[in-house]
Amino acid sequence: MNKWQQQGFEHPVPSDITPQTVYRARRALLGAAGAGALAAMLPQARALEVAPQGRLPRLAAERNAEYSTSEKRTPYDDVTTYNNFYEFGTSKSAPARNSGSLRTRPWSVVVEGEVQRPRTFSIEELLRLAPMQERIYRHRCVEGWSMVIPWIGYPLSALLERVQPTSAARFVEFITLHDPAQMPGQNSSILQWPYLEGLRIDEAMHPLTLLSFGLYGEVLPNQDGAPLRMVIPWKYGFKGGKSIVRIRLVRKQPLTSWMRAAPNWYGFYSNVNPEVSPQDWSQAYERRIGQGSFGGLFTPRIPTRLFNGYGEQVAYLYKGMNLVKDF
Ligand code: MTE
Repeated sequence: MNKWQQQGFEHPVPSDITPQTVYRARRALLGAAGAGALAAMLPQARALEVAPQGRLPRLAAERNAEYSTSEKRTPYDDVTTYNNFYEFGTSKSAPARNSGSLRTRPWSVVVEGEVQRPRTFSIEELLRLAPMQERIYRHRCVEGWSMVIPWIGYPLSALLERVQPTSAARFVEFITLHDPAQMPGQNSSILQWPYLEGLRIDEAMHPLTLLSFGLYGEVLPNQDGAPLRMVIPWKYGFKGGKSIVRIRLVRKQPLTSWMRAAPNWYGFYSNVNPEVSPQDWSQAYERRIGQGSFGGLFTPRIPTRLFNGYGEQVAYLYKGMNLVKDF
């Protein structure tokens, strides 16, 4: 067992290990009969000390039907126990186990950079800044699994409009809390901290781009990015930074945490694209978590769609771009 496997690391950084080892580990994880995938599905993997639905404060929201899929929702237990949140460990179950140390009150978010009105917003202000909507989005991870999640939030554009971006604002950076005392995973150097993600300004202003505060009718559990996170449904899940404390409008394309860790695998755009697999594994199919017989053991493998099925709404953003080069 190498260092990577000992840590239960499922989101490999190529500089850490030889490509062939990565490839084999990936195959094991992603293949329908892969031990990693099976272990993650077994009932005991879910028997965690996690607040069940109904234990967190409710967050009222009106369903936005226009932006919601009618596909079967992934059960709450799966959405809250099968996570990536490296600040709390690198295995899927670690965030649910370890994120109890995160204090989400008081909390504030600085919005700054190329804006006319830079400001710090308290979480209370953010919660009432715009009407809360429920949106059922498909959620596709670059690792090859997917979910359908009823998020609660409002378009990020509602917040950005408040600070009035200048004409020089071309990109937006999203920065997660950096506090190893609350986030024990930050004592490891597996990623550069704080976690940083970014969007182009037109992507950030797109009506599908959600600033999310909750899911399944309640506030976000810590492991899902409390008290607020980004959700960009046509991009791989890692673009959605969690537990955000700073939003910065900038002139230059940011160097995100995953691009820094593995630039050959994780491009800036990271639009879900079954035809482009810069990683050592294919993005053509996905496993829908929480579906399938025997407690999810035989999870269906379904074809992945371009832009995660949101092409009609977002394809215009990339007109004239070469999505193989700009992956
Ligand atoms: N945000 C922070 N701060 N740290 C992380 O490790 N992981 C990303 C993203 N946001 C991550 C993060 C990855 S790899 C994915 S796939 C999604 O969160 C997963 O979100 P979920 O656990 O809510 O499904």
